Amino acid sequence: MSAEIIDGKELAKEMRAEIADEVQKLASQGVTPGLGVILVGEDPASNSYVKAKERACEKAGIYSDDNRLPTDTSEAKLLEIIDRMNEDPKIHGILVQLPLPDHIDEEKVLLRIKPEKDVDGFHPFNVGKMMLGQPAFLPCTPHGVIQMLIRSGVVTKGAHAVIVGRSNIVGKPLANMLLQKAEGRNATVTVCHSATKDMASITLQADILIAAAGKPEMITADMVKPGAVVIDVGVNRVEDSSKKKGYRLVGDVEFEPIAEKASKITPVPGGVGPMTITMLLYNTLESAKNHM
Ligand code: GUN
Repeated sequence: MSAEIIDGKELAKEMRAEIADEVQKLASQGVTPGLGVILVGEDPASNSYVKAKERACEKAGIYSDDNRLPTDTSEAKLLEIIDRMNEDPKIHGILVQLPLPDHIDEEKVLLRIKPEKDVDGFHPFNVGKMMLGQPAFLPCTPHGVIQMLIRSGVVTKGAHAVIVGRSNIVGKPLANMLLQKAEGRNATVTVCHSATKDMASITLQADILIAAAGKPEMITADMVKPGAVVIDVGVNRVEDSSKKKGYRLVGDVEFEPIAEKASKITPVPGGVGPMTITMLLYNTLESAKNHM
């Protein structure tokens, strides 16, 4: 393997130590940052993400108000909990884990969270501000990717960044953020998606290739330019009877052969995942400061 591994766990540890220090300083001034967490349903992946978020809060000294609700929870009940958190001075950030069950209108739920407590950066008000390059809560996964690029010394200015995937959570906001004229951004951005023709001809032009399509190992070595920086946002469970859990985690990128070609690459797990949670802690801390 020739690529340098961008170690998300290590970068996250570094940032979380900085955040924990600041949380302590704030606590000595009488303010403990607080995060309201809501999970509806039993999706195993969502459940493990939420657990990891709660554990990370605890370690950083952030208070978390954890709400696990059954799948048949009504939309009205969920909105009622959000309303309570909107008014609760101990809560500075509200996180509703997505996806929600089909009977709940996701758009309505995200609109109900006060923009000043929207630490996921999903409220249209914050999405609009982000797009205009104005200060706003930035969505955690794309912000985590940008922090990884900055902290591992990747030059983004003028680089061709190709993003595979156009989700509201990753692809679209990341494209916007990388486009901004600012540190760790300022790239030429192309977005590929399920209707893109001859995707390899585009990904082969990428100085920075970001895979965020949610399709196990869809990016193969023949799609990567030698020396490219490869960021794998995918976390996919694939059946594996040799594992105790019955599955293993793989990214959207075929890791081994691409690590032979790339200059830097993120692993799965231990890449982008830990940074996503870190940026949630960061936003919650920022929100607590804004509420002082
Ligand atoms: N589901 C997948 N990623 C995320 C995220 O960053 N935030 C929330 N709330 N739900 C998600």
